[in-house]
Amino acid sequence: MTVTTSLIGAPVDRIDGAEKVRGAALYAAEHPVERPVYVFPLQAAIALGRVTGIDASAAIAEPDVVDVLTHENAPRLASAQDAELAILQSPEVAFRGQFIGAVLAETAEVARRAASLVRLSYEQLTHDVELHPARADLVRPGEVNGGFPTDTADGDVDGALATAAVVLDATYTTPQEHNNPLEPHTTIAMWTDDELTLYDSTQGVHWVRDAIATLFGLDPESVHVVCPHAGGGFGSKGLPHAHVVLAAMAARLVTPRPAKLVLTRQQMFSVVGYRTGTIQRIRLGSDSTGQLTAISHDVVEQTSRIKEFAEQTAVPTRVMYAAPNRRTTHRLAELDVPAPTWMRAPGEAPGMFGLEVAVDEMAIACGLDPIEFRIRNEPDTDPETGRPFSSRNLVACLQEGARRFGWPERNPRPRTHRDGPWLVGTGVAASTYPVFSMPGSRATIRARPDGRYRVLIGAADIGTGAWTALTQIAADALDVEMSDVMLSIGDTDLPYASGAGGSTGIMCWGSAIVDAARKLRAELPIGEPIPDEGVEITGTLPDNPYAGQLAMHSFGAQFAEVKVHTGTGEVRVPRLLGIFAIGQMINAKTGRSQLLGGMTMGLSMALHEHSVVDPRFGHVVNHDFAEYHIPTNADIGSIEADWIDEHDPYVNPMGAKGIGEIGIVGTAAAIANAAYHATGIRVRDVPITLDKFL
Ligand code: MOS
Repeated sequence: MTVTTSLIGAPVDRIDGAEKVRGAALYAAEHPVERPVYVFPLQAAIALGRVTGIDASAAIAEPDVVDVLTHENAPRLASAQDAELAILQSPEVAFRGQFIGAVLAETAEVARRAASLVRLSYEQLTHDVELHPARADLVRPGEVNGGFPTDTADGDVDGALATAAVVLDATYTTPQEHNNPLEPHTTIAMWTDDELTLYDSTQGVHWVRDAIATLFGLDPESVHVVCPHAGGGFGSKGLPHAHVVLAAMAARLVTPRPAKLVLTRQQMFSVVGYRTGTIQRIRLGSDSTGQLTAISHDVVEQTSRIKEFAEQTAVPTRVMYAAPNRRTTHRLAELDVPAPTWMRAPGEAPGMFGLEVAVDEMAIACGLDPIEFRIRNEPDTDPETGRPFSSRNLVACLQEGARRFGWPERNPRPRTHRDGPWLVGTGVAASTYPVFSMPGSRATIRARPDGRYRVLIGAADIGTGAWTALTQIAADALDVEMSDVMLSIGDTDLPYASGAGGSTGIMCWGSAIVDAARKLRAELPIGEPIPDEGVEITGTLPDNPYAGQLAMHSFGAQFAEVKVHTGTGEVRVPRLLGIFAIGQMINAKTGRSQLLGGMTMGLSMALHEHSVVDPRFGHVVNHDFAEYHIPTNADIGSIEADWIDEHDPYVNPMGAKGIGEIGIVGTAAAIANAAYHATGIRVRDVPITLDKFL
């Protein structure tokens, strides 16, 4: 039967919810396989040098140890291009914690104990693991993530700053942070002849397939990757890391038995990527009315000597505010460290901390309310390209948020609100995230004689609600009930799908599904009987005719209330409100959870997260949840996310923008700005710990 009201935007419960609560939803390590061999990695205890000796005799002598994998017996890889993945091809060590082997055993416990018995000797070289802006000899331009130019320059920034009525020149820093999805990175690998099956916890089965096929010199069709559910990723499961290779190599040694590798939380701090620390110098100039005349954002950050990843930290600054003179730069220090990677809103999260605290400082220096200052510097078109925006509703978000947060009643003077021993303040910051697209997604829809529809696409649900949202999109586009749609995702046997990255999943997969549904309905109009043999149609992600003509971005406004204890400096956040302009929301329930999750991670960035590297040894010392702090329920007070009505017909057929990442953007700045309002103390580096107020 047909539906009369749109499913799009409805707060539909997760269709996989009951399965998850019952424990029936299979995560990577839970797929039933016959007699798995358990793999425990050996990791380098030096940050730079080479392995000179491996004595595995004690490990091999343990009962139930099957084998020890090292560079001496590892399979040779077909491609060594990606040095993060091309492990065990030589004795060289490029960072502490790098995989240099593995113990294979009949149980996970035996493998772990036996790994501790392997005696390794090294030739050690002097390493450098510290991000330091003064080391200009190490600093070089890199290719900025997302395909953006490393540097941009318009007008004469130095000249404009020299004549500006108000000038800000300040440095903002953010530390190294680690992705910590609840489900650790996990792979079960299994060879049959020259075919490889991987049960892998990933944000994209086809991305894993393609990378692993290249590495092992296999036809992509010979690599089968399965991941129906993943317990988070935040970017660190976007592309495969070395553990997938280690599992596949181990499985090669024990073919046809499967090899199972579950990383420990501590191992994750060495081998699955992280967000670089950043050092951001921001200079702003304005005239006496608070109109910006110059914006300059120079970033220094780190990468690994063996693989480049340049976080696009200053890229959001290119789109945020109008000014005739503009400049952004990114510089990379190459260090003896693991390769950084994507972590929720790479670029925007650290970059918008710097920019949005700087803008708060500049507004105050100009004697303007920070919302009024932002509105005054709102651009008509994209400041970098001059292109019109497909939609830009930052001002509407700021105004709606201000109304709901009670901003008009705020006394702008810092240190004027007290609650017993607490100083109380409020702050605001803007948020933004680009509307990206990833190429290639296809979806197949099978209309079945029983009147139901099978929708097939190799998409990922990493806990976001994609199972539900894609079913809604398919049912809406087919004009049927959700119960008439059966979705299949998370398997490379399904049509190609790009990964859950860059907040593109629902946009790209949904567009392919809508394309398939429209083609199907052209052939088989609603109400017509489905023929006995069924009908099958494949749709593709269509090219967007507006790409390259319109600037497409989400925007938002983050509001925070912060209390700082006058005696201890303790920082609390009793209230967070985020108002977003994100086009058409697909599922108001799971989508709201995405935004709240992002804001929670923003609070985590503001107050807690900090990967502390010991320069003597080169590793992150606080490599577990006992010492790498993330917020608990007790750290979150009132937290609300909402969105304004935004109609954007240019971004894709659903009019939807990505929502996975924007929630984290700007949150830390809003909290820092509120902490300034509370105390009069300006904190320019996160995490904002109590010592900064004492
Ligand atoms: Mo997101 S950091 O692109 O998975």
